[in-house]
Formats: sequence, structure tokens, C-alpha cells
Amino acid sequence: MRIATLTSGGDCPGLNAVIRAIVRTASSEYGSTVVGYEDGWIGLMEDRRVQLYDDENIDRVLLRGGTMLGTGRIHPDILTASLDRIQDNLADAGIDALIPIGGEGTLKAGKWLADNGVPVVGVPKTIDNDVNGTDFTFGFDTAVAVATDAVDRLHTTAESHQRVMIVEVMGRHVGWIALHAGMAGGAHYIVIPEEPFDINEICKSMERRFQMGEKYGIIVVAEGAAPKEGTMEFDAGGVDQFGHQTFNGIGQIIGDEIKNRTGYDVRTTVLGHIQRGGTPTAYDRVLATRYGVHAARAVHERDFGTIVALQGERVTRIPIDDAVAELKVVPEGRYRTARALFG
Ligand code: F6P
Repeated sequence: MRIATLTSGGDCPGLNAVIRAIVRTASSEYGSTVVGYEDGWIGLMEDRRVQLYDDENIDRVLLRGGTMLGTGRIHPDILTASLDRIQDNLADAGIDALIPIGGEGTLKAGKWLADNGVPVVGVPKTIDNDVNGTDFTFGFDTAVAVATDAVDRLHTTAESHQRVMIVEVMGRHVGWIALHAGMAGGAHYIVIPEEPFDINEICKSMERRFQMGEKYGIIVVAEGAAPKEGTMEFDAGGVDQFGHQTFNGIGQIIGDEIKNRTGYDVRTTVLGHIQRGGTPTAYDRVLATRYGVHAARAVHERDFGTIVALQGERVTRIPIDDAVAELKVVPEGRYRTARALFG
């Protein structure tokens, strides 16, 4: 078989581990070859591809963050206008199956290709951990580790200066990183997109801490968080060229409100792309490797129109339709559990 793979959307620690596992499994278990399209869907549209060999170079990428193939974003309308070109390019290159590795947008594109007859097996990837039908996506654990380390470090400086520290983490539509880093780091409040916040309640929670003799507070905020309607002025941001929502720095906005309303000394730290860079954690390397091995096997079993997914301890396959049907948001009960430790 001749397999093609690509990485699309925001990069994520563990992408190279998936590529390595696909190449090595395809070669060792089936004698198949793998090509990689560069820079995501754009590389496929422009027929920019590289042969991936089962050699020591591919072996070494396990530890490396980012993606050896490059990645990119594309507006869905541009992609869907290029179906003929994509099908021609795949046919000319003799590709028998495509393994797109990506998040919600990439998997939606994968579903669209599968619906149009392209043999596709997807691999779910995103630090946001919001792909439906899989317990975890690789990259999430690394992002949480980075964010937790930041929260840990902020405790001591916050306490020394008697400050309220806001840590803004990634999470466009979901608050998984904020929830996990906040819980692991012992944050005193966590703000996520799924639960619109009340700024008064956050201020009161900080005031209670200071009244009880605690001299500092840490608040972890997901970038996509928004206030309850009517509770404060708020500009929700716009949409970028890829159709993704843009933000106006909710961490700073919350920090300014707390400062104005309480008079506390407040500082905001925005972690940004640090959460996506660098070497993957051991957990992410293992999960990414399992996904890659499994995807190569699924392709050879011609189990197309699926993605690989982690359910409990098992890596399994689910229809790609299920994966893109909705986002995996933080359930209310999980947030309530975290709330028990606020303040
Ligand atoms: O989807 C992953 C993600 O890291 C989001 O958490 C974040 O909002 C977005 O990508 C950032 O995208 P970019 O790399 O284009 O700034």
C-alpha cells in the first residue's frame, strides 16, 4: 500500500511520534510506504510531498515537538473548492489511503473527503482535548504540564507580593487545559468557556481569601472564557481569515476588573504558544505512538471513514462522523468538582 499523511491546524507535541509510528508500522508490519504532504491541506492541494523512510531519521523525531511535515490552516471554503485537484493529486501519486492528523477542523475536512470517496483514517490531535469520542488527544498532557508548572511558579511570587495572579491558558471553546492545570496547580478560581463567569463572584472569592488571612490568589482563565450576559462590558472579538474566533485577552480584562473593583495588586500572565512548544511528555509520546500504530493498521484493514480514539485504556476506532458531530466540552459535574476547592 502507499499511504499519505499530513498534519493540519495548530501544531501539538506528539505529532512527530504519530508520523514515526505510522511509517514504522506500515513498513515493518505490511511492507507499505508512506509519503507526507507538507504544511497540511495546502501541501496536498499543491502536491508538495516527501517520501518518509523507515530509517534512523524518522526514529529520532519521537522526542521532538512540532511537526516534521509542517502544518497550516485553511478556510474550509477554499478546501472544498479544490476537491478535483485533491483527488487528482492523490490518484497521480498512487495514494491508497490518507491519514490526516488534526483537530476538529482537520477531521471535518477528513470527513468531507471520506464522504467524497477518499479512503481516510483520521488521528485526533489538539492540546485543547476537545475532539468528541476520545478520552484524550495527545498534546493535552504536555500543555497541562506546562501550564501547571507556570501556576506552581506563580504561587510563590504572588504570595511574596500579596497579589492576585491571573494565568490565561489556551482553550478556544473548551476549558480542559484551564480545568486540569487549575486543579493540579491548586488555583483558587478557574474560569472556562463552558461556564460564563460572574466577575462579582470572582472578586468576592478573592476578598474572602484575603479576609481569611491568605495574602494572595491565583486564577486560571481559558482564553475563550466570557462573562455572564449583563454582568460586565465585554467585546467578544471577531473571526479570523480561517473562520476561527479571535479574542481580546480575557485574562487581562478580568485582571483589570478585579483591580478596579477590589483595589488588589493584580498581574496577568498569558502562556500562549509556550503550551504547544517543546518536547512531548511521556504520556503524550505513548498515546501518539499508539494512535500512529493503530491508524496504520486501520488503513490496512480498510476501515475507512474512521478515526482512532482512546476509550478508557483501549485505543479503538470510531466513525469520523461521531468525532466531528460536536465538541467534547467540560461537563458541568467536572466543573462543580473543581469548584469545591475554589477560594
Ligand atoms: O486549537 C489549538 C490552539 O492551540 C487553541 O488552543 C488556540 O486558540 C489556537 O490553537 C491558537 O492558534 P494559532 O496558533 O493560530 O495562534
